[in-house]
Amino acid sequence: MSPFSLTRTLPVDTTSAALRADVADGLTRTSKQLPPKWFYDARGSELFDRITELPEYYPTRAEREILIERAPDIAATTAARTLIELGSGSSEKTRYLLRALPQLHSYVPVDVSDSALRQAGEGLLAEHPTLHVHALVADFQEGLELPDTPGPRLLAFLGSTIGNLLPPERNRFLTAVADLLEPGDALLLGTDLVKDEATLVAAYDDAQGVTAEFNKNVLAVLNRELGADFDPADFDHVAVWDPAQEWIEMRLRARAALTVKFPSMDLAVHFSAGEELRTEVSAKFRQESVRTELAAAGLALRQWWTDREGRFALSLAVPA
Ligand code: AVJ
Repeated sequence: MSPFSLTRTLPVDTTSAALRADVADGLTRTSKQLPPKWFYDARGSELFDRITELPEYYPTRAEREILIERAPDIAATTAARTLIELGSGSSEKTRYLLRALPQLHSYVPVDVSDSALRQAGEGLLAEHPTLHVHALVADFQEGLELPDTPGPRLLAFLGSTIGNLLPPERNRFLTAVADLLEPGDALLLGTDLVKDEATLVAAYDDAQGVTAEFNKNVLAVLNRELGADFDPADFDHVAVWDPAQEWIEMRLRARAALTVKFPSMDLAVHFSAGEELRTEVSAKFRQESVRTELAAAGLALRQWWTDREGRFALSLAVPA
């Protein structure tokens, strides 16, 4: 058997159908919104990688610190033989887990980007030549069909990507994960934590403007994929902390009244001056909110690790 296989469960054209549906729904509401998954074309993924290196964007460094420190604990507690990673992207943080899991048989990276999967797969195989890599091109919010690999399985969902889901979506997602897990399997979940507003806002509105460019990139995606005529210069990047929901919202604010055309959809969308489009929610968590959300999905929190400054947490959970 080849050490690398790639399975696509996402037909290439579902992407554009799903994007159309999200535009038809989200841009015709009184409060305009789009799901954040549309940021991540090649340019968006590159901008996100730059964000992770910004002085203000602490989550990636904080999570890496926990992974380096706790990988041996994670390996000992789970004895995982299969590591499944949802939203694996460049698989950078995975390396710390793989190095700590010498007994690992299979690595299953799951991502919507097949270029990211191929690149990451090649890099990992150079370092772990005996590892079986079964890359899956799939949307983790749709049903996952996992390859038949040996247990125990460790399912990792890092980077606080769960914070980009709205509460009902998080419940649906965690319930689906609980359904996938068998006794002995575990979930490793990364969550950014509630902290002072200035730190949070700076992380989503950096001085160099990389996050602003990342946010506006979604408009370039809509132009390219749907033939829309957005001018990114017509919008300002906005990052606000919502203390009631305990999430950061990224928005794009129209600098003046304008109308955008989507000729391929026979749609025109009007923005009044100052009107905002919500492009992302990034929820921040507390130990109790994580425990409660896990429990609601049939998962029990077993371990809770934070970085030294208490900014970010890794949770280990098991089927209840
Ligand atoms: C995808 C969850 C890692 O919400 O912090 C970074 C995406 N958005 N800056 C986050 C993001 C703006 C990010 N994650």
